[in-house]
Amino acid sequence: MRMRMGMGMGMGMELLFSLQQLLLLLFTTVGIVFLLYCYCYWYSPRRRPQGRLPPGSQGMPLVGETFRLIAAFKSEDPEPFMDERVRRHGRLFTSHVFGERTVFSADPEFNRQVVLGEGRTFEGSYPSSIATLLGRHSLVLLKGPLHKRMHSLTLTRFASMSLLKNSLLPDIDCLVRQTLDSWKPLRPLPLPLLDQAKKITFELTVKQLMSRDPGEWTEALRKHYLMLIDGFFSVPLPSFLSSFTFTAYGRAIRARKKVAEALRGVIRKRREEMMIMMMRPRPPSSDMLDELMEAEEGFTEEEMVDFLLALLVAGYETTPTIMTLVVKFLTENPPALDTLKEEHDGIRARKKQESLDWTDYKSMPFTQCLMVLQVINETLRVANIVSGVFRRAMTDVHYKGYTIPKGCKVFASFRAVHLDPENFTDARTFNPWRWQKGNGNGIFTPFGGGPRLCPGYDLARLEISVFLHHFVTRFSWDVAEKDKLVHFPTTRTLKGYPIIVRPRVQK
Ligand code: HEM
Repeated sequence: MRMRMGMGMGMGMELLFSLQQLLLLLFTTVGIVFLLYCYCYWYSPRRRPQGRLPPGSQGMPLVGETFRLIAAFKSEDPEPFMDERVRRHGRLFTSHVFGERTVFSADPEFNRQVVLGEGRTFEGSYPSSIATLLGRHSLVLLKGPLHKRMHSLTLTRFASMSLLKNSLLPDIDCLVRQTLDSWKPLRPLPLPLLDQAKKITFELTVKQLMSRDPGEWTEALRKHYLMLIDGFFSVPLPSFLSSFTFTAYGRAIRARKKVAEALRGVIRKRREEMMIMMMRPRPPSSDMLDELMEAEEGFTEEEMVDFLLALLVAGYETTPTIMTLVVKFLTENPPALDTLKEEHDGIRARKKQESLDWTDYKSMPFTQCLMVLQVINETLRVANIVSGVFRRAMTDVHYKGYTIPKGCKVFASFRAVHLDPENFTDARTFNPWRWQKGNGNGIFTPFGGGPRLCPGYDLARLEISVFLHHFVTRFSWDVAEKDKLVHFPTTRTLKGYPIIVRPRVQK
């Protein structure tokens, strides 16, 4: 019996062994076939479109050049990635990143055609993970006539001269001063400048969108936003994993729900107030929410939520980063800082009160840049947070003998144009004085262009200018910790630029 069992086990082992071998053989064969398929697919002539694609390299099968791109942009000097390829292939080249063949452009004329061709030859293209976080009615995702309408509504709110002058400037001025007042007790603790800049811009945008003053509600909303924004920069995961809260993306989805809930509450309350006010004469619309509610299209609650939520995202990362980088570059360029201080001390000396008005703003040639090119422009040129835009070709596009096939992804790099020595003398050096000579001949596009031109471009400049005025007239500062500039997933300083501020001793 024991022997039979022994034999039985022996035979069983043999069977198991041969089964294991069989499985191994099967997996190896499937693996080899899969790799061969990938290789053939990757290099097959069928993948090559009709017409000539800009030259370039596909990199390694499947991953392409993704890791090289990420490594370059995680460093302080990402330029070699573009420089090498531009040198080898020209200003239009093809690569393969983030799972897709992508045509990169460092050519200002091609970039212009990309942004101006929105809706005809090219269209915005975002991964579905971003669309889920933003909501499908957010401005960046809208297309066609509805996009046009919403874009112009946003411009009315954020770029109208009379609103900038009479509503936005006083609000910004007040919020900046309040935040700087709160710094006094923090001395001499290191203060991450980026956090403070984010607080100011968030509070301001909430005020402009829905007339809420800073307070507990705004701060709670901001905390959810921090989590939501982390989701944009998290590693995309398969959808069955991404909704788990242990992933950054899962936490972002939960935060989005919280933000949407809060915004829904504001919308409902406003609706009730409007019903009560119905019988009385209507005051002019005082914020973005009023504009949305009064629009003849009759937007749904979900449309308004998505729209407001995405506007807050758009302003939250961009302007504060540029504010922080302006301070960083000025700190590293004492002559530029001295010139700026002189100018702002002059403005301050001419006034009895601390607050700024429109005339003061217009007398800041070195800071703001509606006509001449100065500190903010130079920061946007050397280190813009938006280094370029992704688009997808809607039709075969022919350019300089190349064909970009329908469906192909395109990255129009503004950064590469701004840092090209052909376009700007001594292009890799921060030199605000360069802007006194000209305005970049239409190739300086930090706010994009065409139908998707950033509607916050004037607001951003105003916010940065007012912040700089109060910051340099009230404080001196030292860098508390060495900080590094990186460019992936976006341009920012790794530690949020911690500084130690001291009230300035007025001479
Ligand atoms: C220094 C600050 C800023 C920079 C550098 C910047 C840059 C840009 C760029 C390059 C685009 C074009 C994107 C594309 O073509 O796909 C854009 C779009 C946009 N920006 Fe800004 N932005 C800034 C501040 C702001 C602010 C403060 C707001 C909000 C009030 C804002 C709201 C938007 C919106 C809603 C869009 C989408 C427009 C559309 O798709 O129609 N931006 N921004």
